Amino acid sequence: SAQLNDLAKAAGLKYLGSALDNSELTDTAYTAILSDVSEVGQITPGNTQKWQYIEPSQGTFDFTKGDVIVDFAETNSQVMRCHTLVWYSQLPSWVSSTTWTAAEMTSIINVHIANEVGHYKGQCYAWDVVNEALDDSAAFRDNVFYEVLGEEYITLAFKAAAEADPDAKLYYNDYNIESTGAKQEATVSIIKNITAAGARVDGVGMQGHFIVDSMPSVESIQAAMQSYMDAGVTEVAFTELDVKFSSVPASADGLEDQAAAYATVVGACLAQSGCIGITLWGFSDKYSWVPTTFPGEGEACLYDDTLSKKPAWTAVSSVL
Ligand code: XIL
Repeated sequence: SAQLNDLAKAAGLKYLGSALDNSELTDTAYTAILSDVSEVGQITPGNTQKWQYIEPSQGTFDFTKGDVIVDFAETNSQVMRCHTLVWYSQLPSWVSSTTWTAAEMTSIINVHIANEVGHYKGQCYAWDVVNEALDDSAAFRDNVFYEVLGEEYITLAFKAAAEADPDAKLYYNDYNIESTGAKQEATVSIIKNITAAGARVDGVGMQGHFIVDSMPSVESIQAAMQSYMDAGVTEVAFTELDVKFSSVPASADGLEDQAAAYATVVGACLAQSGCIGITLWGFSDKYSWVPTTFPGEGEACLYDDTLSKKPAWTAVSSVL
């Protein structure tokens, strides 16, 4: 049967892809799936391009683990989405444990981005420049960057990324922005403010961490995507798609509901010409981040933990 990335491309997307973490590379059965470009056309590093790996102490850069993932994608002719430059989480303590002046924090962001984006110049289709700047009430998250610089840190990051790799698509990436509401409206404001400040933002990344029983409507997903296009970006993408169960194991009926949920999201993307790709946050329940981060929840992926295709895989293949 046809494979997902081949189907996605035939349906007009640039790619269907997956997150991949370095620790997974020793699993030959899993990497056989992940290295097959007809199934997985795009790779995002699950962790190893984050600040704590790339600049663990100030001015000391270590691209070793990130390079392994980028080399994997290049070897397999896969599109690379690079993730992520400025995020409050998985930050090394040196960034967050000092009270920096505005000038110092500006320099910290500029140096980090110049080095990381410069190192990967020409290798990233897109960068998630700023990740999760909004909190769950749609206010700016009170992170170390915001505390020192205010909203200005976002523009600063986009300018630095554009300078370091003029050809990479620059994304704002967040969760719970896949449907209409306060967080979607705040995302529209972020896009407009970046642009008004004279910086370039090309895309909005909707992470797409969904829960089977609380799916937004397809109309709401489509309206959210359209609002980002109307705000001036040239593309949107689902960047971390998974659909979890809030308690596991899932029932057979539950797996059918999950299949329908995946089909809704993929169908919404296909209906929006600006939606250029879909990244799954892991391809198998075996390596999903969900059970680790949300104990008791899980089974969020297209393949189960024995690497067998679930009803959701079939549903996605039918929609594409
Ligand atoms: C997750 C990784 O998958 C985990 O391995 C890690 O422990 C925590 O981060 N939003 C993001 C991703 O933007 O970077 C996160 O990835 C999941 C939520």
